[in-house]
Amino acid sequence: MTETSARPALLPRPAEAAFHGGAALTLSAATEIAADAASAGTAAWLRTELGAATGWPLPPPASGALPGEPPPRIVLAVDAAAGLGPEGYRLRVDGRAAHVTGHDPAGVFYGAQTLRQLLPPAAYRRAPLAAPVWELPRLEIQDRPRFRWRGCLLDVARHFLPKHQVLRFIDLLAMHKLNVLHLHLTDDQGWRLEIGRYPRLTEVGSWRRESQVGAGPAARFDGRPHGGFYTQDDIREIVGYAAARHITVVPEIDVPGHSQAAIAAYPWLGESGELEVGREWGIIEHVLNVSDATLDFYRDVFDEVMELFPSEYICVGGDECPKTQWRASETARRRMREEGLADEEELQSWFIRQLDAHLTARGRRLLGWDEILEGGLAPGATVASWRGTEGGVAAARAGHDVVMCPTSTAYLDYRQSASDEEPIPVGHVLGAADVYAAEPVPPELTPEEAAHVLGAQVNVWTEHMDSPRAVDYMVFPRLPAFAEVVWSHGARDYARFRPRLEAHLERLDALGVEYRPMDGPRPWQRRPGVPGRR
Ligand code: ACM
Repeated sequence: MTETSARPALLPRPAEAAFHGGAALTLSAATEIAADAASAGTAAWLRTELGAATGWPLPPPASGALPGEPPPRIVLAVDAAAGLGPEGYRLRVDGRAAHVTGHDPAGVFYGAQTLRQLLPPAAYRRAPLAAPVWELPRLEIQDRPRFRWRGCLLDVARHFLPKHQVLRFIDLLAMHKLNVLHLHLTDDQGWRLEIGRYPRLTEVGSWRRESQVGAGPAARFDGRPHGGFYTQDDIREIVGYAAARHITVVPEIDVPGHSQAAIAAYPWLGESGELEVGREWGIIEHVLNVSDATLDFYRDVFDEVMELFPSEYICVGGDECPKTQWRASETARRRMREEGLADEEELQSWFIRQLDAHLTARGRRLLGWDEILEGGLAPGATVASWRGTEGGVAAARAGHDVVMCPTSTAYLDYRQSASDEEPIPVGHVLGAADVYAAEPVPPELTPEEAAHVLGAQVNVWTEHMDSPRAVDYMVFPRLPAFAEVVWSHGARDYARFRPRLEAHLERLDALGVEYRPMDGPRPWQRRPGVPGRR
């Protein structure tokens, strides 16, 4: 794409776009942004972003008619009667103004994101470069998302991502019209959320003395402490920053497996006595016990979580909980006897049901990984289908909502090509083309069952991403490919998508995103000598 291209590469592809030709609208230092009250948030956002890139003030229109030709304007408004659909928008550029009309405030925001894509990539910089031409082609776009859950899981437990990096990540999600940040806050290797009632969760649980480097039997340890956590005010800031960009932050506190950091902080939560915070990756046998005290502890934790996160959905994890310790546990056997539970799978379901009741009574909905199906699904549960699509199919058929994120197409920790140059390659090959080809709705579902598919998300597990630069490499360009899967309608053809993706990389360059180049890693993006795993 040249800087003044008449047909900018829009990504994700809008539902309908008609380019009209004729003289473009040239924005200038006199350009104003007009907005109704419902669009004030997007006006402020656009003023900040475009203001930084252009060096212009972009004020609201001066009151009272000024003599002479009015300056070029950007006009933002909500019109719920325009038939645009939830989160939908219309963007019309004529000779005098760019009009963004949203069905709702989110629609206005997405229209403004599209407007920014119509400008040269320099629109993504934070200070003006020498004189780009800020032209908007004459056009009319009408657009709306295919799915209402367009998500990305970010694992800040395995490797902590500093708060300012989370805010940057939110901006990158918003740029791609994604609307859910699933924040995986706790795991065996770290607890990242301050909990007022239980300070040891972060005093003890937020750091480990060293980390496994690489995967498989040849992995080693680095001898270097790793840690970090978000204070409750940090979380309020993250949640508010995301909300201003129409992103819901869905918190995950993973139970009853993946809990070694919590057990390290409060050993009475577990079955194994004193432990340190986990240093190695994988499925860890140390799990929570099923005592009343442990459940009360987690009800308290989730009460603080619900105070901090307004999200309707609260994720309790539920994945990869080995049952070895429960089989040997008197507490577990007693619980199974008292509750009439047939096996440890039913015991896990019982545990999840206690939390489901707690969340449901407070007006929230439980989200869990597909293992929560195994001993019977809790009545209010929504299922994240990750081990394949079967869990999603079973849950949808049982009338439960589902979010699709199967390893086959959604795991952004998996290698991006078969090349040995991929850094710490794990899992199967999952390139941008594979992510792009994914269909979120399993074909075996009837239309009624398919209505339970809220959407999809990609999952960024960070065992092998030890820095924000490594996260950039694994997330981009696969995230833009995924954005089109969940936003755009109609058939997808990677050969037609790829030129738009390559043009889009210029925007990521302007933002300083260190994506994986289409033909493989740059030398400093490799990790020679650090073993991966097939
Ligand atoms: C998962 O990948 N354990 C949900």
